[in-house]
Amino acid sequence: PVPEVVWEIDSTNAELIRRGADCPDGLALFAERQRGGRGRRGRHWASPLAANLYLSLHRRFDGGVAALGGLSLVVGIAVAEALRRLGYGAVALKWPNDLLADGRKLGGILIELGGEVGGPIQAVIGLGLNVRMPRAAAQAIDQPWTDLTALRPAAVPDRNALAAALLASLWPALDDFARDGLAPFLPRWAALDAFAGREVRLLLGDAVREGVALGIAADGGLRVRHGDGGERVYHSGEVSLRAG
Ligand code: BTN
Repeated sequence: PVPEVVWEIDSTNAELIRRGADCPDGLALFAERQRGGRGRRGRHWASPLAANLYLSLHRRFDGGVAALGGLSLVVGIAVAEALRRLGYGAVALKWPNDLLADGRKLGGILIELGGEVGGPIQAVIGLGLNVRMPRAAAQAIDQPWTDLTALRPAAVPDRNALAAALLASLWPALDDFARDGLAPFLPRWAALDAFAGREVRLLLGDAVREGVALGIAADGGLRVRHGDGGERVYHSGEVSLRAG
């Protein structure tokens, strides 16, 4: 990957999408601040100045959108493994691709796909990682969150070293995924799964389903066992732990 750092931008994802076909493969755009950081489901991503990591990585894939079903899981795995290697042992994953630590959100991944019909798929892989969230910015966050500084108060994370470690983990994982698909990642996901074996609630639009999370299926879906003993695999929805 080739890093590029900008001081301020609306959204690193939006910028790489604007660059489109001109964007070289492996371009890794970092911003010190985002005016309009984008989260999943149209949410805002708090992106205050010089505090956290905001990264978008551009990568082309041959073979159509269907083959990219597991991409977001692979990205989460590569990031979580890099953080664990750096000593953040509490980092875990919530399906499909939230980075959690101690049940709180540490980072998130937003993948946006583009490209011309018949050509390769252009994936813009966005990662927001909370490194040291300023108190003022934290007030706007509407869910339980944490940052790397809270996980290891004695170790001041060096954002350059962190960025290098993340890219060094991500790029080969994307190569492996392009070549071998999701299968080799399934045991790696299992080692990082925050909710496996736990009672969960799944929000599917207006419907709510409850059951026990059983990890991920071969196609990247979430396996859930329901009260009647039946098992189902879900490909969308928001999962949370069942309270009580
Ligand atoms: C989520 O909602 O969990 C995903 C958050 C993704 C945020 C990152 S920050 C860098 C990149 N640029 C954006 O506008 N969003 C992603």
